[in-house]
Amino acid sequence: MTEKVICYEKTDSTNLRIRELAETGAEEGVIALAKEQSAGKGRRGRTWDSPKGDNLYMSILLRPHIDPSMASMLTLIMAYSVAVVLQKQFGTKTQIKWPNDLVLDDKKICGILTEMIMEENAIGHVIVGIGININRTQFADELLETATALHLGENISVNPESLAQNIRSEFWKHYTMFLEEENFAFLKEDYEALLVNKGRQVCVLDPAGSYEGKAIGVSDAGELLVEKADGQVEAVFAGEVSVRGIYGYV
Ligand code: BTN
Repeated sequence: MTEKVICYEKTDSTNLRIRELAETGAEEGVIALAKEQSAGKGRRGRTWDSPKGDNLYMSILLRPHIDPSMASMLTLIMAYSVAVVLQKQFGTKTQIKWPNDLVLDDKKICGILTEMIMEENAIGHVIVGIGININRTQFADELLETATALHLGENISVNPESLAQNIRSEFWKHYTMFLEEENFAFLKEDYEALLVNKGRQVCVLDPAGSYEGKAIGVSDAGELLVEKADGQVEAVFAGEVSVRGIYGYV
């Protein structure tokens, strides 16, 4: 993969920077890295608090030739790649909260925002944005219960650029396989080993009506499989899924 990395001291949102570049024809592999974001974007219109410090804010431009229905798997592949690198580089065992969070001790340390932009009926481009709290100690009141950081200790200095580079190397490896296989089966087993949802009670906030069940794994398409009390298994493609015991779901 040919990469072009653009570093910002401060920007509004690395996802927005990549979107602008994509719209002027930038190729797959362009990366935006920032030390600080003034308007970090989270999922579902939320913000991603992005102070300056030992945190990572990165977005990657992809132009995959895949069916748009498969794009959500890119979030899963990135979540897996980040978890692998955190384990390899720091020995930190994070877990994946499907589809886009990494958790440590049941609190969020990383969020992923994947945005797909269509051109006619095909994918024009996809932006995968990653935010990781590394040594961050200050959180806004509303985040205290749900967010944490890797807390590697004062003596361990993390170079966000080299962490970002390692994450990308891991990601490109799985991304290439994904493009060849065109499904998630190749990573399913390894992914499930890190899946915090697995075997736990979850609540699916479906627009057609919320329901509870036990998460039993993911499908070959990367959907979360939820077994309801009556034994019926639902495949959740997208949406908000709370896991009992994490982020206040009791
Ligand atoms: C979430 O969990 O809601 C997703 C958060 C994604 C945050 C990252 S930080 C880098 C990139 N730029 C943004 O504006 N958002 C993503």
